[in-house]
Amino acid sequence: MACALSGPILGIETSCDETAVALVRQKVGGKLEVLGSKISSQIEDHRPFGGVVPEIAARQHLRWLSEMTGDLLGEVGLAKEDLGGIASTSGPGLASSLLIGLNFGKGLALALGKPWCGINHLEGHLLSPFLDGALPPEEPHLGLIISGGHTLLIEVERPGRYRRLGGTRDDAVGEAFDKVAKMLGLPYPGGPQVERWAAKGRTDRFTFPRGLARSGDFDFSFSGLKTAVRLQVEKLEQPLSDGDRADICAGFQSAVIEVLVQKTLAAAEQRGLATITVSGGVSANQTLSRVIMERAKAAGRVCWVADRRWSTDNAVMIAGAALWGGWPGGGTEWERDVDPNLRVAGQGQV
Ligand code: KG4
Ligand code: ZN
Repeated sequence: MACALSGPILGIETSCDETAVALVRQKVGGKLEVLGSKISSQIEDHRPFGGVVPEIAARQHLRWLSEMTGDLLGEVGLAKEDLGGIASTSGPGLASSLLIGLNFGKGLALALGKPWCGINHLEGHLLSPFLDGALPPEEPHLGLIISGGHTLLIEVERPGRYRRLGGTRDDAVGEAFDKVAKMLGLPYPGGPQVERWAAKGRTDRFTFPRGLARSGDFDFSFSGLKTAVRLQVEKLEQPLSDGDRADICAGFQSAVIEVLVQKTLAAAEQRGLATITVSGGVSANQTLSRVIMERAKAAGRVCWVADRRWSTDNAVMIAGAALWGGWPGGGTEWERDVDPNLRVAGQGQV
């Protein structure tokens, strides 16, 4: 879907603990060209607290956003006046963090006389597997979003037309990775740490529960798995040996992968969708992406996992969703406010 804007758009992402800006242009035919992208991670600021501290996150966004935008425009060789429009994440996320990117974007757009829009962060993730241009986003498909805050299976008719098929009933999958890492004394964010330890461990020593594997729907549950891991850790000799830690990570990761893959393939089959996409921070997990691609291929389906550059939070995906999905007319939406609980599509709604 083409968006009627006269120049590249500035995407702004501040929903959680990454400050990100990107300049993206739509080429003739709909493909996107990423002119530049910057991400400032706050991981070191939050690490001493074992998770994201909203107050610190908001202050860091405020500290960096304006400077990063100026630097990006300079590096790409564009003036503010060359922008076609500005898109900020409006939700879901931390209210105080969202407010910074949303108001900065609106303010800049107002000063420049350019259109502004608010973009759903989940729509950004959902369409991110298309950013490398291998596949047109108009392709009907099944999207699995796996991030720190969400676990969702979405049927995509085309950008902007979504149906929620299922989601987590408790913890998001990234949250489960982070909590298991914490139990094992591994630093925040836990996903990459668990993946690293799992690579050294045995998957057959501990068999953890596959939540809702036989529920007959497309919902997920990771809280039982998290509790099973905690109980198992408590039974082991403390402090944990490296071997025990690696085996726990391998057992946990394979339980997560199994249930994600099984439900995703079942949903693709039931809905008759030949293409599957996987996005969100957890899709950076190489074992998961390898297994889901292999199993999808064996089931006669094509699976696209978001490029690692665009799997964790970034602003390219926000600009991409603006150009493809959430901002088709390219008009201004001054009235749109932050919505920390924004959903991509209601239950059963397209
Ligand atoms: O998409 P994202 O950057 O932020 C949200 O929108 O939530 O996802 C962050 C989540 C964190 O929970 C992090 O631990 C997880 O993605 N993550 C991973 C990996 N890299 C990041 N989980 C498993 N394996 C990874 N390699
Ligand atoms: Zn995200």
